Amino acid sequence: MSNNSEFITVAIDGPSASGKSTVSREAAQKLGYVYVDSGALYRGMTWKAVREGVDVKEPDRVIALMECSNWEFFLDDKVLKFTIDGEDPTAQLRSEPVRERVSDVAVIPEVRAFMVDRLRETAEFGDLVMEGRDIGSVVFPNAVFKFYLDADPEERARRRYRELLETEGRGDEKQVLDSLKRRDLKDSSRKTAPLQIPLGARVINTTRMAIEEVVDFIVREVKRAEGA
Ligand code: DC
Repeated sequence: MSNNSEFITVAIDGPSASGKSTVSREAAQKLGYVYVDSGALYRGMTWKAVREGVDVKEPDRVIALMECSNWEFFLDDKVLKFTIDGEDPTAQLRSEPVRERVSDVAVIPEVRAFMVDRLRETAEFGDLVMEGRDIGSVVFPNAVFKFYLDADPEERARRRYRELLETEGRGDEKQVLDSLKRRDLKDSSRKTAPLQIPLGARVINTTRMAIEEVVDFIVREVKRAEGA
């Protein structure tokens, strides 16, 4: 399936702590596009499972819960948000119980198929910047703009460590690096939609770049083509 609406999609993929989220949010703001964090949907499903006491290691139960839950999408200041059965899980999406379980939920093929359909539907909201792991490869393989952000594992671990210090006041750099490498391996070796550089994506290595430089590069590329 392609991005067959008349709207523009900017697909931004990459591993965790590549700078993807900040860059995507700021690029969307500068372009006046809707920002979609696709990981939030996988986190939302995980939040729902935790809330209903469903063990994420039992895919059949997760799938059953997903199929009977009602998802509604809306825009909040050009940021895509959603409710599940009437509840907005935004504040809980980065909590520890969700963080610990989300990669088990994201490997369930039925969950991925459901989320891919929901993500494609968001094209109806207008021009989008969507970030994730499989946006340029699976969700919108025909996106006009595809970027793949990367950075050395050591630099990504430093960024994540600094983030942890800010949000939780503690962290262990070595542990962060080990867990990041484990997650990279899990993300790139899973059977369904593994993390990969999408065909036709511009690869940006952000190791020695400031966030603003990356944002400006993407905005410039999109604006140049828009004006062409
Ligand atoms: O980007 P994030 O940390 O919020 O992603 C949460 C989880 O969802 C992580 O395990 C990767 C997975 N994910 C995915 O498989 N495909 C996406 N398009 C986005 C996220």
